[in-house]
Amino acid sequence: MLKGKHIILGITGGIAAYKSVSLLRLLVKAGAEVQVVITPAGKEFITPVTLSALSGKPVISEFFTANTGQWNSHVDIGLWADAMVIAPATASTIGKMANGVADNMLVTTYLSAKAPVFIAPAMDLDMMAHPSTTRNLATLRSWGNHIIEPATGELASHLMGRGRMEEPERIVEVLDRFFDTKDTLKGKKILITAGPTHEKIDPVRFIGNYSSGKMGYAIAEEAAARGAEVTLVSGPVEIAPRHESITLVKVESALEMLAACEEHFDSSDWAVMCAAVADYRPEHSASSKIKRGDKGDPMELRLVANPDIAATLGKRKRSGQLIAGFALETDNETDNAIGKLNRKNLDMIVLNSLRDKGAGFRTDTNKVSIITRGGERTDYPLKSKTEVASDILDTLLKL
Ligand code: PMT
Repeated sequence: MLKGKHIILGITGGIAAYKSVSLLRLLVKAGAEVQVVITPAGKEFITPVTLSALSGKPVISEFFTANTGQWNSHVDIGLWADAMVIAPATASTIGKMANGVADNMLVTTYLSAKAPVFIAPAMDLDMMAHPSTTRNLATLRSWGNHIIEPATGELASHLMGRGRMEEPERIVEVLDRFFDTKDTLKGKKILITAGPTHEKIDPVRFIGNYSSGKMGYAIAEEAAARGAEVTLVSGPVEIAPRHESITLVKVESALEMLAACEEHFDSSDWAVMCAAVADYRPEHSASSKIKRGDKGDPMELRLVANPDIAATLGKRKRSGQLIAGFALETDNETDNAIGKLNRKNLDMIVLNSLRDKGAGFRTDTNKVSIITRGGERTDYPLKSKTEVASDILDTLLKL
């Protein structure tokens, strides 16, 4: 899939820069045209001569070419590219990218690039775990950049931990897969629910849950990146969709989510029900703030059941439509998931368990098993929510 693709390979100043040579070789071998852009610190680790010999192009590092004074246009390179890969990406470059510090050619190119950007961090374990790195990566991720998560292993400091740049073969695989799946959902209309619902108690309080929307939004972004037209019905979350093919419908409560889903379901080919919908809502929500009694007596709140949105759509499903549901479990996981799959008339269910570390609410990762109506089950390892989204869409495509 990389044949003829224009790739910018950004290299920064980390010991893992030696792996960039293999990455460059693999990209060229796969038929890509590669333009290397290296930071001044990067050149301390690897020479431009090696890189230009392998890429067949002069390596760009400075804004001006020293001997001719020729200006290197970061805008032109940014527009030329089908993808930009920054490997290794140091904590410093990640920080600059997240904060628009355009003081070298690599960061200015990044800021001008219209193509998808893949970032492979590499640094020592403490730098990797530092809140500033975590925050900067989260910012970059929230802008739609693809983070190729670093592996755990021996680091340049000889310490063991998370921060090893992903292997070049795997980075090429990620790129290859990106281009391979690019238009696989062209022409499909997909309805996706995400986030929690808030069930109002009074003007200042609600019943809710810990859903951040990350899983549902990852599915929406991945589907849109593959060419689908997405309607994202979302409960209250802190994130926003980025892809222009995502139409966001904001809702608060389960009843509002149901109404939005009913409006959009008939015109959809697939529905993916990822929202953590409150099963119950207060029977009455007070119009003014409920006051605490003087004596601190217990307060009773009567709850009534919310409609089951997935089951409602499951009943309405016409031939050719597919519905994927989620099952968030804490025990008896498989039986509960299969029960939901059948009861709600779904075509597949994505089981995630709160017993698995890194799975479920608020994390950037998830660990899922996908069970189809035909009884086929696939257990996946812990992956980023973007990769999980990809697995879900691949399964729907197979169905
Ligand atoms: O948002 P994140 O922080 O990234 O977290 C992701 C997630 C944990 C919320 C997500 O991975 C997930 O598991 N979503 C489903 C949560 C849930 O409500 O599961 P459930 O087992 O209670 O519901 C089963 C299915 O029925 C789900 O598809 C749900 O959307 C749907 N449902 C449930 C209740 C209801 N009244 N209406 C529904 O449509």
